[in-house]
Amino acid sequence: MRVEDPKVVAALPELGVQLRANACLAELTSLGIGGTTDLLRITRHEAIPELLRLLDSHGVPHKFLGGGSNLLVRDGELPWVVLQLVSPQPDVVLDGNLAHVDAAADLGRTVTYCAKNDLGGMEGLIGVPGTVGGALRMNAGAYGMQIGTYVREVKLYRTAGRHLETLRGDHISFEYRHTSFAPDDMMLAVTLELPSKPYKEILQGIRICNEKRRSSQPLGQKSAGCIFKNPPGASAGRMIDELGLKSLRMGDAQVSDRHANFFVNAGRATAQDMLALIANVRERVAKAFDVILEYEVVVWNG
Ligand code: EPU
Repeated sequence: MRVEDPKVVAALPELGVQLRANACLAELTSLGIGGTTDLLRITRHEAIPELLRLLDSHGVPHKFLGGGSNLLVRDGELPWVVLQLVSPQPDVVLDGNLAHVDAAADLGRTVTYCAKNDLGGMEGLIGVPGTVGGALRMNAGAYGMQIGTYVREVKLYRTAGRHLETLRGDHISFEYRHTSFAPDDMMLAVTLELPSKPYKEILQGIRICNEKRRSSQPLGQKSAGCIFKNPPGASAGRMIDELGLKSLRMGDAQVSDRHANFFVNAGRATAQDMLALIANVRERVAKAFDVILEYEVVVWNG
């Protein structure tokens, strides 16, 4: 979708919004899949309510993009524009055990920066791609930890109420790959409270998690991490593997030969290829195990 109305185009610089015309979502997502649309890059949180009023009043539909690492975007010309936060510098500010982090900050760099300042707890998240905001929205976790545990405060834009809001961590529910945020809430910043730990000790934990991840996940390939959530008490990857579906391919979308819950773009996969593969695997798991796997990946197919 093109932002063409001259009134909208003229208002964007005043709001600190950079317009990148005809952006390719395949280049902005870790799966390397997705069509094209105009990208609006937001440099000031405070301008968001006015920006969204402007877009709504001119009938410009929009979606919020984080780091694009858990996302499958449809092909072709997209019927909405995409909004993305530009990370300020610095994007992490420490104050004792508190880390004030911009939602657009890279998750891995945040974990490392905190570690170097003797703040631990998030070792398991090393190697998880994406932004802190994206991790927060889905309560990303690995190796026995989840980011929600450390959240003390979140600043967000509430699309429903059209206002900026700050929520206390204990007013947010963080469950397995699920939070109480509304799907259209936009994460802006978070304050984490992290336990003190010597850097050397944190580094050891990071090395162990990195090694485990390297040995079981297809890190060098284009993927969105795990496609499905694990059903209670079971592993989606193991179930898919047990059905002999590793390497199953539809077009250039393929079940990883390393971890069966990772579906990779093995060439020039389209969203259609990937959606067909996901549906196929889901159906086979349902037949064999009587379990309907729930998507972990977010799909922008509308
Ligand atoms: N397994 C197989 N075959 C496979 C994959 C896994 O037999 O192809 C078996 C493993 O051998 C192991 C069990 O299944 O016995 C669990 O596997 P793994 O330790 O890889 O964990 P997982 O449940 O598949 C979860 C998260 C990952 C996270 C790892 C490590 C979900 C959906 N996945 O995977 O998170 O990195 O644990 O903590 O919760 C993600 O969410 O995108 C993600 C990658």
